[in-house]
Amino acid sequence: MSTIRIDLDRAIGTVDRQIFGGFIEHEGRSIYGGVVDRIDSPLTDDRGFRADVAAALKELYLPILRWPGGNFVSGYHWVDGIGPQESRHPRLDLAWNAVEPNRFGTDEFFAYCAELGTEPYLCFNMGTGTLDEALAWVEYCNGDRDTYWANKRRENGHDKPYGVRYWGLGNEMWGDWQVGHMTAEAYAAEAKRWALALRRLDPEIRLVACGRNGWSDWDQLVIDELVRYVDYHSIHMYSGSDDYWSNVLSPLQAERSIKACAAMIERARYVQHVAHPVRVIYDEWNVWFATRGDRRADRVVEERHTLADALAVATYLNVFVRNCVPLHMANMAQMVNVLAPIVTADDGMFVQAIYHPFRLASRRTLGTALDVWVDAPVHEFSDIPDDRVVNRIADMGPFPLLDAAATTDEDRRTVVVSVVNRSLDDVRARVEVGPRARIARVAAELIDAPSEDSVNSFDAPDVIRVTDGAAPVAQSESALDYAFPAHSVTWLRLELE
Ligand code: AHR
Repeated sequence: MSTIRIDLDRAIGTVDRQIFGGFIEHEGRSIYGGVVDRIDSPLTDDRGFRADVAAALKELYLPILRWPGGNFVSGYHWVDGIGPQESRHPRLDLAWNAVEPNRFGTDEFFAYCAELGTEPYLCFNMGTGTLDEALAWVEYCNGDRDTYWANKRRENGHDKPYGVRYWGLGNEMWGDWQVGHMTAEAYAAEAKRWALALRRLDPEIRLVACGRNGWSDWDQLVIDELVRYVDYHSIHMYSGSDDYWSNVLSPLQAERSIKACAAMIERARYVQHVAHPVRVIYDEWNVWFATRGDRRADRVVEERHTLADALAVATYLNVFVRNCVPLHMANMAQMVNVLAPIVTADDGMFVQAIYHPFRLASRRTLGTALDVWVDAPVHEFSDIPDDRVVNRIADMGPFPLLDAAATTDEDRRTVVVSVVNRSLDDVRARVEVGPRARIARVAAELIDAPSEDSVNSFDAPDVIRVTDGAAPVAQSESALDYAFPAHSVTWLRLELE
């Protein structure tokens, strides 16, 4: 029998709810056809927001939403997207070879965030954009004095400053697909110049440096050069593979990324005597492999997510909870149509497999992460997976077939555990909460489907959904035996006496 041992006395740290953030970009049908749609559609409200999509997003309790890109931002001039909609101009978007109509701009994004009850996180254009433009954007959003851009906001009907806290210093500036990409040295020098000026304008803003994957030379240099000037270092990760084991295990790379990145930050802070904390933000993450390289402007990167992808997403979220001390925020990329949990058509929508683990994690996770020890049968790569796995993880094995993360509330009366069973068979495990705890009640929720390749679709939207999980096979005062179904995600809620 496997064991999942939860140590109630060993709190890892506080889980920042920002790890359940989202990201929407002007790409494919993410904004147009996803977030907003034809004003005469029965699915849109009077602002053009799709009510069905907004309702599905509200279910996710997103604490933060990143916008407008992504690659798109590196050619985006925010001024094109303000003022009366009829006087806005379409522009060429070089990132996705598309025409950007500019119907959805800064004020519409804030209205959307207000609709969802989420906090906005904006990313600057450091590709074709200028520092002057960035300063003007902050002034437009946050200025409270009698100045040109603050007055423009007022003219556009928004008297009160929006008070945007989070600002990203560029997106993936290290990649040659990024319009205006740079060397690490050039980026660090430019970002420092921007950071110093932006803080003069608004000392309250929180600045996010543009990192890469967490362990690269780019990360190292940017951290060393910017640690004094920023509040966060952002990293991105997309994983996935046609190979089931590579797909479900790759997210564990995020664990290595966060640790490596946090260590580099700690080193830089110590060596440079930097007093303020600098934490990690996973500002893009998801499963993305089937449509990689697809650069069609229309249905670009509309990944169809399987149950295996849902297991991968649940694993990412477990990793984020386990690493809650260095990790401040994480944003699923993206939320609608593009790689996303929500897929729309003119007359409706459905939610993909990955929607369910995200929703459960966002709603069920409690405030304090607990140490969890897992002993289970393992998977070991027997071939040479490094050749075909996007994220090289084979060296991190052997991998327990169960992956778990646990959280508790302030008075330790409730413990919730997220368990990913990546085995293709049921796995029976004893879940222990320590000798002093007495389990009064157990509730279980389950995500599974007939096969690891199962998908939801318009025709069959509920193949993968959340159901009540089975009762424990056996239960004592401080432990229970539970049969975790093959390829599944289970959320156990233990009420303690
Ligand atoms: O989310 C899709 C793209 O992936 C983003 O535009 C970019 O930042 C990343 O490469």
